[in-house]
Amino acid sequence: MKLIELELEKALENCESSKVLDAMNYSLLAGGKRLRPLLLFETCKAYGVDETVGIPFACALEMIHTYSLIHDDLPAMDDDILRRGRNTCHVQFDEATAILAGDGLNTEAFYVISQANCRDDQKIKCVEILASCAGINGMILGQALDLNYENKEVTWEELECLHRNKTGKLFAAAFMMASVLADDKIHCNLWKEIGERLGLAFQIQDDILDITKTSQELGKSNSDVENHKATSVSLLGIEEANRVLTKHFDEVIEMINSLELKSGNLIQLLEDIRNRQM
Ligand code: IPE
Ligand code: IPE
Ligand code: MG
Ligand code: MG
Ligand code: MG
Repeated sequence: MKLIELELEKALENCESSKVLDAMNYSLLAGGKRLRPLLLFETCKAYGVDETVGIPFACALEMIHTYSLIHDDLPAMDDDILRRGRNTCHVQFDEATAILAGDGLNTEAFYVISQANCRDDQKIKCVEILASCAGINGMILGQALDLNYENKEVTWEELECLHRNKTGKLFAAAFMMASVLADDKIHCNLWKEIGERLGLAFQIQDDILDITKTSQELGKSNSDVENHKATSVSLLGIEEANRVLTKHFDEVIEMINSLELKSGNLIQLLEDIRNRQM
């Protein structure tokens, strides 16, 4: 079993039993590609930092990502029924429980970081990064724009800003927290740009997959068209969307190579993401 799966299983083991806790574990342990934790681990290793140092930060990031998916699927948002190959949280439990499960994962993520076995200044910096990337200047902003832009004609610049926040900021958090654990004080802004750009490419892929794959193949509902979402495909068409995402992947890899780290495995992970089918 992957390191991150084992660690996520332990992440909530000291919480009081409750229906909400069951819902948190139901969504957190449902699989998922675990890309943000893997990116954090591979970036640590590229710096020569042991991946075990990154465990609490990787768990916290995956907990925040999972909370964002639980809330994204709610009736008030995308109103979806399938996630990670199973019922969405509010379908399996109920809406109120799903809202609280998301809230619980969000707050517990910061508790997990508080317990990390590293220097306090590193923990504080990581809390700052994760809070700002997940919050109202980050993922939440992107989700708000996503809802605002339903049924609207938007420009590519507006959609790019949406994608960089909605999806890019949590990728940025993975890279930035790893650079803090490696005590690299110089390249945090470069990692932020790498993360946002990767998120942009990733969300363009997600928009393409939403219309080219079945929900069974994806293990999640594909509802962008029926929700009248502004997406990369609705704006650019598939061919141009593919061209743009290739350009961004190439630039991400170029930027990482410019850092001259031991980044072979990290680049391989990015190539795997580039070739993903779900
Ligand atoms: C889905 O993210 C949400 C987007 C940002 C498009 P992932 O595709 O990483 O979802 P999981 O974690 O594998 O379920
Ligand atoms: C949501 O984007 C990404 C989040 C920040 C939760 P989508 O709505 O496109 O994600 P999917 O397609 O439901 O996974
Ligand atoms: Mg959404
Ligand atoms: Mg959605
Ligand atoms: Mg989508």
